[in-house]
Amino acid sequence: MEEIFSLKSSFLEESKAATSLSELQQLRVKYLGKKGLVTLKLKTLSSIPPDLRPVYGNTVNEVKRYIDEELKKREALLKAEENKRLIHSEAIDTTLPGKFTPFGREHPVNKVLSEIIRIFVSMCFDVEEGPEVELDYYNFEALNMPKYHPARDMQDTLYISDDVILRTHTSPVQIRVMEKKKPPLKIIAPGKVYRCDADISHTPMFHQVEGFMVDTDIAFSDLKGVLESFIHSFFNVETAVRFRPSFFPFTEPSAEVDIGCNFCSKKGCRICKNTGWIEILGAGMINPRVFEMVGYDTEIYSGFAFGMGVERLAMLKYSIDDIRLFFENDIRFLRQF
Ligand code: DAH
Repeated sequence: MEEIFSLKSSFLEESKAATSLSELQQLRVKYLGKKGLVTLKLKTLSSIPPDLRPVYGNTVNEVKRYIDEELKKREALLKAEENKRLIHSEAIDTTLPGKFTPFGREHPVNKVLSEIIRIFVSMCFDVEEGPEVELDYYNFEALNMPKYHPARDMQDTLYISDDVILRTHTSPVQIRVMEKKKPPLKIIAPGKVYRCDADISHTPMFHQVEGFMVDTDIAFSDLKGVLESFIHSFFNVETAVRFRPSFFPFTEPSAEVDIGCNFCSKKGCRICKNTGWIEILGAGMINPRVFEMVGYDTEIYSGFAFGMGVERLAMLKYSIDDIRLFFENDIRFLRQF
């Protein structure tokens, strides 16, 4: 009997020391399991003298019940504590502010590019594209700039091999389209171009939009009408437009097109170099030599062409004075558009 009571007290001590459910489970096995200390005591019942058996049996059973209940209480307590801990650690504070997901937006250059395309598409121009890695033939030769022609010096070219270059302008798309299609043509060709050049107004990569129209009776006045409509739509109706004689090997006659300086209202300032005018694009009537290169009959067809720099137009539209800002990807700059 003493052994039974000492089992009870040793259990009490051990159960106080137990701090986890698994420790309690070990205690349950130790005392009440198949080979547990209390269970073994019941198994010795037959060796007890018959007159003492009922008292002995009752006492062991009582201790067994006591231990069982005690374990259940302790288990319930530990489970409750564990639950509290879990609830605490997994708690979601619904009063915290939500996580901010910044929205992306169109890059200002792409925005201006889309606007240019939209305006020309509204005048029924089709959109075509050409490769950025281009053959010397399309970039120069077919545009009336034979090898060693000094006009090539106008564009600092990045060479991949003798005959393969990064296109320096979008004009080669004129040739690629005219080789494939017959007039009438009314095309714009937007895209990236590359020149070995870098300063406040030049980056090695920039964007151009080429445009051209070919049909049986296209005149210089058509060029003027289309470009003036474009400029008035892109800037605003009051913008002054000026055509100034110039030279490009692939057009004859050629012109540079200026707009009245919108920084000083044509009075003269640093941006327009005190002229009151800012050059925005090159244009002209397509040189018959170019038509010959693609096999068009120069007696039947005439056409105009123009090319503009997208970054330059974006700079004028948004009064940006350093082209490199477009490519530094400073979010404070990009967010403003
Ligand atoms: N390709 C010329 C350039 O980059 C721009 C240009 C001028 C395109 C006159 C034309 C044009 O189509 O007629 O600098």
